[in-house]
Amino acid sequence: MIQHAVFLFATGAALLGFCEASSAFPCPPEGQILPCVCSLTDDTMELDCSAVQDETQLKEIFHTTPPFPFTHFTKFVMDNNQHVVKLENGVFNYITFDEIWITNGALKEMEQGSVEQSKGTLTKMVLHGNQIERFLMEDEPDMTAFIAFEFLNLNGNQVKVFPDIKSTTLKTFYINHNPITLIHNENLFRVPNLEDIDISDIGLIILETKLLSNHKKLQHINLSNNKLSIIQNTALIIQSPDLKDIDLSNNIIDDVEPGAFDTNNNGLTLNLEKNLLYTLNEDTWKPLIQAGVYLKLSDNAFGCGCDMKWAVAPPAGDNTDYISAMDGTCSSGNSFSSLDPDWYTNFC
Ligand SMILES: *[C@@H]1O[C@H](CO)[C@@H](O)[C@H](O)[C@H]1NC(C)=O
Repeated sequence: MIQHAVFLFATGAALLGFCEASSAFPCPPEGQILPCVCSLTDDTMELDCSAVQDETQLKEIFHTTPPFPFTHFTKFVMDNNQHVVKLENGVFNYITFDEIWITNGALKEMEQGSVEQSKGTLTKMVLHGNQIERFLMEDEPDMTAFIAFEFLNLNGNQVKVFPDIKSTTLKTFYINHNPITLIHNENLFRVPNLEDIDISDIGLIILETKLLSNHKKLQHINLSNNKLSIIQNTALIIQSPDLKDIDLSNNIIDDVEPGAFDTNNNGLTLNLEKNLLYTLNEDTWKPLIQAGVYLKLSDNAFGCGCDMKWAVAPPAGDNTDYISAMDGTCSSGNSFSSLDPDWYTNFC
């Protein structure tokens, strides 16, 4: 019996010890940073300040004495905080972070000096679901000093002017679901090493033809859920050998000009689902399929008439299987793959 009790006690103490260890040294003392919570694993030390009551309290926590024993945290988190509207210069004092996650809150203004201390370490800023109108309160934020910065998510904010960011390290940029409507060619010239850009759902009406022409490392482009009606010649010629997909679904596209896309992106998937295309223009699509591009074309307005003969019943000697390179449906409901080549040979 006594043995049993000792065992339980030891187990309890061990468990308690384990729990405490997760916020123990080298975290700052719990009482000093409340209501922020520090958590620790072998290679991460995170600070979650979701529960701070206002900007003053947040600032005070980082300006308490004695100084925090360690000045570098892997991550700062503030989720669903409806009190902090502004992050002012110096708010984090001498503390640095690899990642800053401020999400689903009231944040509207973030001065560059609030994160400047982390310029040597910051890799990632996740800021979705806030009220941000201007990233770092600049129309042309210069992030060249942030030498490790690779990932920026501004999805679901109130950005109206597309931020003309300067950074050669930025790889991933999500600014979808903001009321932008307009992006000019030069707005993306200063982020030449982008790999993944999401500019979906921003009310974009016009796709300027040099917007992504100098980005040689692009892999993913998302332009879906916009108001594009035409893709002009050269508009999406991307000089990147790694390009994997361009999502143009859910626009109002009824015209894709020949030469709109490059024929050097082997393995590219183009998604044009949920648009208003009604003809399958040979000059536009044939060279792309021959170059190995896969086309997603469901939910358009295709009449599937003689304008598709080149694909359904190609002339003798052309052995390309065009139909297998497309996923599409006619407005009659027939899928492209169900179309009978004989109809086209006999009636066109
Ligand atoms: C593009 O963005 C939309 C949201 O606007 C999303 O639903 C879709 O999955 C994204 N496409 C890709 C390929 O990630």
